[in-house]
Formats: sequence, structure tokens, C-alpha cells
Amino acid sequence: MKFHRSLLKLALIPALTVSSLSAHESEDHGKLRHWEIASAEPDRIFLTLYGDPATTRAVTWRTAGKKETLAVAEIAKSMGGPGFINDTSRIEAVSESLVLNEARKNDQGEVHYHSVIFEDLEPETLYCYRVGDGEEHWSEWIQFRTASPQPKPFQFVYFGDAQNEVLSHWSRTIRMAYQTAPNADFALHAGDMINQAHIDQEWAEWFKAGGFLHSQWSGVPVAGNHEYGPKKDKKKDPKTLSQLWRPQFTLPVVEELPENLHETVYTIEYQGMQMIVLNSNERPRKQTAYLKEQLEKPGFRWRVVTFHHSMFSPRRGESDSSLEMEAEWKPLFEKHNVDLVLQGHDHTYTRGQLPVREEAGYVKGTFQTMYVTTVSGPKQYAIDKEHEAVYNKKGVETIRNGEQTQFFQVIDVEDNELTYKAYTSTGELYDAALITKDFKTGEKKITQQIPDVPAKTFENTPGTKNSHGVKPKKKEEPKK
Ligand SMILES: [Fe+2]
Repeated sequence: MKFHRSLLKLALIPALTVSSLSAHESEDHGKLRHWEIASAEPDRIFLTLYGDPATTRAVTWRTAGKKETLAVAEIAKSMGGPGFINDTSRIEAVSESLVLNEARKNDQGEVHYHSVIFEDLEPETLYCYRVGDGEEHWSEWIQFRTASPQPKPFQFVYFGDAQNEVLSHWSRTIRMAYQTAPNADFALHAGDMINQAHIDQEWAEWFKAGGFLHSQWSGVPVAGNHEYGPKKDKKKDPKTLSQLWRPQFTLPVVEELPENLHETVYTIEYQGMQMIVLNSNERPRKQTAYLKEQLEKPGFRWRVVTFHHSMFSPRRGESDSSLEMEAEWKPLFEKHNVDLVLQGHDHTYTRGQLPVREEAGYVKGTFQTMYVTTVSGPKQYAIDKEHEAVYNKKGVETIRNGEQTQFFQVIDVEDNELTYKAYTSTGELYDAALITKDFKTGEKKITQQIPDVPAKTFENTPGTKNSHGVKPKKKEEPKK
């Protein structure tokens, strides 16, 4: 049922609100920075793709205060002047309360998350929305454009792990991404957006770093291993999905999947492209039937699959490959001619590709699937050349590597051409390729368009305390 999640939220409210101080009522917030503290003013506004992107969007936001306070969103067709406010629709939110103190290191008390699903929108139309209490506490008006129901050119941005020093170091990456691709239709966050799953202060940084972009670009969040963690005690508690994930992101619920996968495994269908989001923290095998069912759906020009852990992990110190993923998912990628596999986790940059597979094995000189591992935050690991050699033997061709650098990617889809570009957080183009596809035969060609920028390595690029690629050189003893 479409509103299953919303109904569940309503049912949760009484159980979660017993004798707790709201963030607004609590007097001592310890070391919290003022912008982390929830108030009557809406904050952490996050827009998501939900259902048909031509007619639907979902928005989620946070407040504190009396839980009975009304929470609403208003929406109107946008126009150049301010008169759009004369023809708005108001939708009441579904709200749930969350006591942050139930997880360690959180002392904010109770906050409220609200979500609204905008439905029956007109395709290819610029809308304006705002969220608030319906009276004096409102967000600004925020604009987004609905998609076309037909295949049409579009663009999206893709981020690997932000994870550490998110406010100080990731902010420039997402903001440069915005300067580079301001009209991107959506933003894919391929997991590990923060370091400690349940810690609200870290999410506060992620929302502040992205600012209004989180409410203007539609977001596609993927769950990484750092979105899972113990709630209280590091050793004893089982790892669970962040207490904030489901309240703060309104995402499609796939009823046929087990509940633990809800809102972490879903599919986006956008102007002729299918993007399947998987959860590599849970057993791949449990998601194979869903993946297969999605890939068997006809009618898509392009197919993209995204999950957090790299199928072919390039990083030193990580196990060399996720064998269960490889066994369960890769044959389906091959059978259904998946174009891109977008991943994170390894805190380094690798773009590789696999050729077309026939019964006798991979066909030399052909191209079928691009595999990318990337990182947008400051934590950096080195590439393991031995792993690369193992993957090369499996048929994976490594095209471009990069270390010690923060990246974002911009992907353009236009008819039978898909252009992939990776930029550093300074906006420098670092890697590019053009895929052309014959929609009748499914045959693809890839043209490498790597700019004349030397590969960035641990040897030629300075890092910080969060660089873990090479051991620091021992200081030489002064000669006597
Ligand atoms: Fe990770």
C-alpha cells in the first residue's frame, strides 16, 4: 500500500513520546552547536524521489516543540513574480517523534520529523514548496522541477562517502558540485554520509554542509556500513540502521522485501533510466530476486545499479572482493546489460569496466558495464595494486585511478549517449568517458575522454590525519 510507511509512523507516535523533554524545552544542550538544535523553525528539509518523478515528490523536515503543533507543506506552480502564493495547495504532514537521547552522545530530547508526499503534480513543471506549522514558522519557498514521463535528457550528481569532517571538508565538495551542475535532476549519495550512524550531531553537519541543496535537488540516499551501528554500547549492542534514517528520509517502501530492507532497497525510474538502489550491508542473496524482477522490467534505455560496498574493492586492507555480491548480482548485470554500477566505501577512486560476456568468456575489445568506486569526503585510503591484478584476471579493466582526492561525479543522459565525468572538489575535471548505445541491439561503445591531468597518488598529493594510505615516514635521526 502506498502510504504504508506513513500509517506506521502515526502508530509509532504514542510509544515514542513518553515523558521526554523536547529539544525546545530542554535547557542544557551541553556542547551542541546552535544550528544542531531543533526548534519550531523547520530544518533538515530533504526532498526525495518517491514514485513517479513526473508527478510525485516527497519532502521530510524536522522541528521541536509541542507534538500537537500542526505540520504542513504548501505547494504551487512557480512563476517569476511572487504571485504564485495566490494559488497554493496545503497538505498536512504525517509526523513522528524521536527521542534522540535513546542513543549515546545525544542530549537533545525529543524532536519531530514530518513528511509530505506531493502527488498529482504536472510533468515538466517548476514548483515552489514550503514547509512549516501553517502559521508563523515556515521555511523559505523552495523550487524543484518535475520530470518528463518520456525519455528526455537529464543530469544527476553522484557522491561517494562524505563520512568524516563532513562540515569542514565535505561542504566544499557538494557546493562545487552545485556550481558545476546546478540543474542536476537528482543527487545520489552512495552511503557513509556520516561516520556514526545514530549520532545526531554528525547528521547535523551533513545537513548544514549541503544546506538548501538537500531541499532543492531531489536526493537518492544509499545505506552504507556507517549508517549502521550500535545504539548505546559499542561492543554489546547489535548494529542497527541509524535511528534517523527512516524518520529523515521519505523513501519508497518495497512491500515484498523483508522489513529490514525497507527504505534502503528501492528503484527510481527517471526519464528512460532505471536506477536500482541495493543495500550491501544486508545479505546480497536476499535482494537478488528483487534485483532480477526489476531488471526484467522492459522499456528502459539505461540501467544503473548502486550500492555502498564495491563489488571489486580496490583499497588496501579491505578484503579483495565481495564474493557473494559478485556471485549473486554480477550475472544479472551481465544478462540485463547494466550500464553503470555506482559504489563507495573504499575512500579512493577507481573506474573500471567489464566487457560483454559470452559462453566462452569475456569478449575482448567490447564494453558492457562501468564500475565506479569514489569518495567525496577527506578520509583517504590507498589503492591495492595486488587487488587490481586479481580483478584484471577476472576480466575487469582498470581505466582510471585516483588517490588522496575528494571527488564528485556528474552524469548526463541524452538519447543514446551517457556522459560520465568525475571532478575533484576544486572543480577540476579528472576523468571522463562517453558511452553510446544502440537501443535495438543493446550494443555499447565507450570512448575514454580522460583529461590531461596526471593521476593523483599518495606520493604526489599531500593528505591529512585522515589519510591512511601510506605509513608516515620515520623522521631520520640526525647524523652525529
Ligand atoms: Fe563504507
